[in-house]
Amino acid sequence: MVVKAPSIPVPKKILTSLLISSDDKDERITPSNKDPIAFTANVAFGVPIHSLTANLNVAPRAPPTPTRIYGFINQPQPLSSINHTQVLTTIGHIMTIWFVTGNSGKVAEAKEFFSQHDIRVEQLKIESVEPQAKDLETVAISKINQGVPHLPNANDMILVEDAGLFVAALDGFPGVYSSYALETIGNHGILKLIDHLKSEDIVTDANLRKAEFRAVAVLYRDGEIIVGKGVCPGRISHDICDGEGFGFDPIFIPADLDIEGNPVAIGEIGHTSTHGKQFGVISLGEKQLYSHRMRALSSLISQLDFLG
Ligand code: IMP
Repeated sequence: MVVKAPSIPVPKKILTSLLISSDDKDERITPSNKDPIAFTANVAFGVPIHSLTANLNVAPRAPPTPTRIYGFINQPQPLSSINHTQVLTTIGHIMTIWFVTGNSGKVAEAKEFFSQHDIRVEQLKIESVEPQAKDLETVAISKINQGVPHLPNANDMILVEDAGLFVAALDGFPGVYSSYALETIGNHGILKLIDHLKSEDIVTDANLRKAEFRAVAVLYRDGEIIVGKGVCPGRISHDICDGEGFGFDPIFIPADLDIEGNPVAIGEIGHTSTHGKQFGVISLGEKQLYSHRMRALSSLISQLDFLG
């Protein structure tokens, strides 16, 4: 970025005062009092102070009192302490993650999650082939490979997230076949398969119908692949709720969480609870507290060293 040269000529004496603190407030200047953010961004990107001032043969008079920007010129912060995400956002160059999925419910959850990190999420719809693999990670990495040629900008990132519902009494079925199971037998079919598993005792009932969502999130950035995993334990409800959620949300009740947000044992009462409600009837914000997808994305984010 170029700092715009302002129109008022700068006497040599004033140029010197840019580098040495001056007591004469009226003579103080900044390189640009019209666009201090652009100047800050330049410094943050490692443009040496001397090159900014060397090119500055004209400059406007600064406001009568010293500004934060002025102090920043004399005492530049070490680059390591600068939050690059904030700087990129400040100058309008927002990092974008292209989420390869046909599921808009997943995109909504990822958008909400990454917005806290000032990262934009866009849906990338491509015709991908889902390999028949026995684990979610293999499926996700295969989709990344299929998505890379479609990346709109080489500096952006690609995200693939693959999830599945694993029902304990069905030896983990539908698991990696979750999409297929949903399309064929649907939520009614899952309920039918475990209809005989019930008990008057709430804890026994929950354990008989134990299930978990698992998610694997894979991010591609600049030739590198990062993997994050997340699990959400819970149980299958006895009925299908009406509501907003997608997929198996209408039949899945997450385990309660302890005060630190970690799941407690199935059937136990925790600090945070849906009180027996399925994912399908709670808000998106509430689902995020429990979600396997959020856990996988959090694990991913914790491995991104370029995020401040
Ligand atoms: P995918 O292959 O990751 O898209 O997911 C496999 C199947 O699991 C799809 O049919 C999804 O609808 C379902 N699924 C994945 N995540 C969730 C979730 O958070 N709630 C409900 N169903 C889900």
